[in-house]
Amino acid sequence: MTNLDDLLSQAIESFNGIEDAVELEQAKARYLGRTGSLTELLRGLGRLPPEERPAMGSRINQAKEVLEAALNLRRDAIQKKNMEAQLIGEELDVTLPGRGQGIGGLHPITRTLERIESLFHSIGFTVASGPEIETDFYNFTALNIPEHHPARAMHDTFYIEGTTGHLLRTHTSPVQIRYMQNHEPPLKVIAPGRVYRRDSDLTHTPMFHQVEGLWIAENANFSALKGVLSDFMQQFFERDDLRVRFRASFFPFTEPSAEMDIGCVMCSNGCRVCGYTGWLEVLGCGMVHPVVLKHVDIDSEKYIGFAFGLGVERLAMLRYEVNDLRLFFENDLRFLKQFN
Ligand code: PHE
Repeated sequence: MTNLDDLLSQAIESFNGIEDAVELEQAKARYLGRTGSLTELLRGLGRLPPEERPAMGSRINQAKEVLEAALNLRRDAIQKKNMEAQLIGEELDVTLPGRGQGIGGLHPITRTLERIESLFHSIGFTVASGPEIETDFYNFTALNIPEHHPARAMHDTFYIEGTTGHLLRTHTSPVQIRYMQNHEPPLKVIAPGRVYRRDSDLTHTPMFHQVEGLWIAENANFSALKGVLSDFMQQFFERDDLRVRFRASFFPFTEPSAEMDIGCVMCSNGCRVCGYTGWLEVLGCGMVHPVVLKHVDIDSEKYIGFAFGLGVERLAMLRYEVNDLRLFFENDLRFLKQFN
C-alpha cells in the first residue's frame, strides 16, 4: 500500500507548489477526476481479494478526504494571495494632491476687446460687425480710395484669387459704410473685429484686431472727437493724468485726419517702447470725409461726424506690458494663464 501513500504525498506536494487557480483545478483532475489516479485505484478494488476490499476501500476514501482538504486549503491560499495583489495594485493614496480641473479663461485680446466695448457702451455706442471677406468697394472705393490711388499701397492687401475683387479686409472701416447704408443718423457705433495685412515681424502679425468708431450727428465735431478719445484712453489705462496729443495726418476717408498719441505708459522720461520720445501712437482718426457721406446718401450739409480706428493688440500690449506681439497668437498656456 506504499503506492497509496506515495500518491498522496506526491499529490499534496504538487498542490502546494501551484500558484495559479486554473492550474490547481487541472491538478485536481489528475488525481480526483474521472480518470484521475485515485479514481483508478478505487476502480481497481474489484481485482483485490474480497477480504482486503473493505480496508483498502476505506483507506482510499480517507486519502480522498485528505486530498480534498489539502485542495481546499490551497484554493483559499491562492484566492487570498490574488486578492492581496489586487488590493496592492489598486491602492489609492488618499494623501496625494488632487489633479484639479483646468478652468478655461478669456484670451487677453478678448478681455481687451470686452473692456473697450464696455467703455464705449457706457457713453452710448452700440456694437456692430461686418464680414472679414470684403469687396473692393467697401474696403477701398466707398472710403474714398479709388482704384490706382496710392493710398491702396498703404495696406498690403490679401486678394482672393478667382474672385471679382474680393479681399480680406485690411481695416474695420468698411463697417462704417455698411452701417451707414442701413442706419439713419444720428448714429454712434463701434465695430470690433479681425483685419488682415501682408505683414509679419516683431510688431506685426498678418491678422490683428481693430476697433472702428463712428459718430454721425449734427454736432459731432472735432472737439467731441478729442473729448471722447481722451476720456476713453484715460479710462482704459486707469490714469486721470494721462497726457494725449493729436498730430495732423492723412487718411483718404477723413478730413482733417489725425494720429492720436498718449504719454508713454511705461516710463516717465523715455524708454525703448516709446522710442525715447515719451509718446505712443495709439490710433488714427478724423472727421468723416464728405465724399464718404455722399457714397451712403447722408447729407453732409446737415450731418458731420468723426471716425477712428484703434489697434487692439497695441492697447493690450501697453496695458499688460507685453513686449512681443507674437505671444498673443502662440497659445502658450504659461503666457495665457497669467491673465486669468
Ligand atoms: N482705417 C484706418 C487704418 O486702419 C484707421 C482709421 C479709421 C483712421 C477711422 C481714421 C478713421 O489705418
